[in-house]
Amino acid sequence: MVRCIAADTPHAIAQAVQTLVDGALLGLPTETVYGLAADANNPAAVAAIFAAKGRPADHPLIVHVAPQPTVESWRALLDTLCDRVPDMAWSLIDAFWPGPLTLILPRRSGVCAAAAGGQSTIGVRCPSHPIAVAVLREAAARGVIGVAAPSANRFGRVSPTTAAHVRSEFEGRLADNELLILDGGDCAVGIESTIVDVCGEHPVLLRPGHITSAQITDVTGLAVWGAQQHSPQVSGSLESHYAPEAQVHVADAARLRAHVDSLSSDSMAMSAVYGSAALLNGLPAGLRCREMPSNAEACAHDLFAALRDLDAAGVAHIWVEAPPLGLPWDGVRDRLKRASAPLPTPPIGTRPSVL
Ligand code: TXA
Ligand code: MG
Repeated sequence: MVRCIAADTPHAIAQAVQTLVDGALLGLPTETVYGLAADANNPAAVAAIFAAKGRPADHPLIVHVAPQPTVESWRALLDTLCDRVPDMAWSLIDAFWPGPLTLILPRRSGVCAAAAGGQSTIGVRCPSHPIAVAVLREAAARGVIGVAAPSANRFGRVSPTTAAHVRSEFEGRLADNELLILDGGDCAVGIESTIVDVCGEHPVLLRPGHITSAQITDVTGLAVWGAQQHSPQVSGSLESHYAPEAQVHVADAARLRAHVDSLSSDSMAMSAVYGSAALLNGLPAGLRCREMPSNAEACAHDLFAALRDLDAAGVAHIWVEAPPLGLPWDGVRDRLKRASAPLPTPPIGTRPSVL
């Protein structure tokens, strides 16, 4: 049995911090998704993260730090992790930390080497979730200044936005002294942090998220480059990532409706639709449906839970209405693109095809 405690029970934070100090794994709620957290400077604990996720050891982890009260204390903290902090990074820290933004910075050699997966850089994030902040502050007071935390899903699967999702990923795979999940409710943002590499002359967007490239330009005064110009080492940029077991297809409303209308009743039983209220209104009764929120932030919040719920119903295909164009939808579009890419070989779970 994986242990799970509500974050508001007495001593929950202390127990969570003790878990980190002991070198075990912690399911940590953040405002984006749940993390699988461990002391970033404990190589055995970091190895346990890679093993639990089934993630290749050369895919770097983000190191989470507690919010700092002054520029001086930020400087002192980042000095322990990074070789240098470029000016544009300071502007972004000032504007967006604590919050859903990860910065890729030049790593101080010898620090968090295992967590950084052999990179000369380090991904640093300061989350805003009050539970995460409480854990990070108390962990720092006990000598754990950086907490490595990838999303708390097995490699290649959808990121968890509830404690129950985390449990379902690791139940039966980890012993109760290996993982403690801190239940902090569901995650407000719902998709992973925006990742920006700030090591070069321009900010490079490695993963879109709640904080958009336009906001990054506003704050830094610099054009944001795409990852193509850069070829980073980001597991989230693999062709297929975040994939549920059912096949995900993204199509515009007209194509989707025409397809669903053409299905036999047997095929319909193996299909689900995630789309706008307008689309769902016109679909045959009896088809498994979930309404996609019409605003980008609400949709990001709902997306992974929706994919998990529809997947859990055992369907073979999930048809998703293509989200609107426009910057606020970049994160959702990116995650759907990854979820609907062809699965890597060997496939992550197979179900009979009905198409
Ligand atoms: O919102 C988030 O960022 C969540 C929560 C738990 O904080 N974490 C998360 O971690 O999404 P993960 O490991 O699932 O995704 C982090 C991505 C990976 O694709 C990793 O390759 C990339 O960040 N990354 C980490 N360090 C890096 C580095 N030094 N250089 C380039 N990419 C890096
Ligand atoms: Mg992940």
